[in-house]
Amino acid sequence: MQDNNNLVDFNDVQTRETEMKKISNNKPNNTPLGLYVADCVTYMKDMPAESVDLVVTSPPYDNLRDYKGYHFDFKSIALGLFKVVKNGGVVVWVIGDRINGGRSLTSFRQGLYFQEIGFSMHDVMIYQKKNTPFMRSNAYTNCYEFMFVLSKGKPNTFNPLKEKTVRSGYEMLVHNKKSDGINKKILGKLKSEKTKTNIWKYAVGLGGTTSDKIAFNHPAVFPEKLAEDHILTWSNKGDLVFDPMCGSGTTCKMAFTHERRYLGLDISEEYIKIAKCRIERVGNDKMGRLL
Ligand SMILES: C[S@@+](CC[C@H](N)C(=O)[O-])C[C@H]1O[C@@H](n2cnc3c(N)ncnc32)[C@H](O)[C@@H]1O
Repeated sequence: MQDNNNLVDFNDVQTRETEMKKISNNKPNNTPLGLYVADCVTYMKDMPAESVDLVVTSPPYDNLRDYKGYHFDFKSIALGLFKVVKNGGVVVWVIGDRINGGRSLTSFRQGLYFQEIGFSMHDVMIYQKKNTPFMRSNAYTNCYEFMFVLSKGKPNTFNPLKEKTVRSGYEMLVHNKKSDGINKKILGKLKSEKTKTNIWKYAVGLGGTTSDKIAFNHPAVFPEKLAEDHILTWSNKGDLVFDPMCGSGTTCKMAFTHERRYLGLDISEEYIKIAKCRIERVGNDKMGRLL
């Protein structure tokens, strides 16, 4: 298979992967890094406990898509994640529901199970799609999925992303309001930026989700920016970012881009090949900049 966009040939991927690992494997650790074809439940059994700083992943939703005969065992995956994530580590679980015939609420059931096994539901965030074709004749158009932010204890890392405030400059601001009810006002400088809210909006489709045409050989890619925003928020350079169901490799690509170590698994060999192509392209860009 070839990506017409960047002419990546899968046959070259195997050899060049070794080179890529040298780039990503810059910290000694017992966990093998890179991308592997594997059933994540089996694979996590052999992974060291408490070795992962951050997971950003999205499972198959309610059998909505055909992922080439995978076996999806949610409870075993959740237990595996609880084992491999460090104390203070975070799991971002991007999940939607089957909508036709009434919402399945699989997302809620999974959230409650995560709590039951010891995760804290640190936040329930919304991934809003800026453009969505899913119109419904008898309900409003669905335009979001959940991003469960699960933590094992208190999160070790929170680097809040900021956005620009609408107003800037100076204004008369309420100051020292007391029980007499009189608002005293003083001239104050408005903050030029504030911490983002927990509803994140992303464009989807080519150019929005990603510009890598090859990624669309996978049926359910999430936006690169979504993975990037979580990686920047919940991890630091050199941390280990894990995606147990990495599909086209979005999380690993963004982890590599931001100098985190990464481990990605998928049960499908075809998807891992796509992921390798995408990451290799980042590696080529990085090497290009160094030369
Ligand atoms: C929603 S997709 C992930 C898409 C990914 N976030 C991306 O941006 O491309 C879910 C993936 O889980 C994989 N999968 C399902 N069961 C699995 C298992 N037991 N172990 C590893 N991967 C699995 C599927 O092959 C599929 O690629």
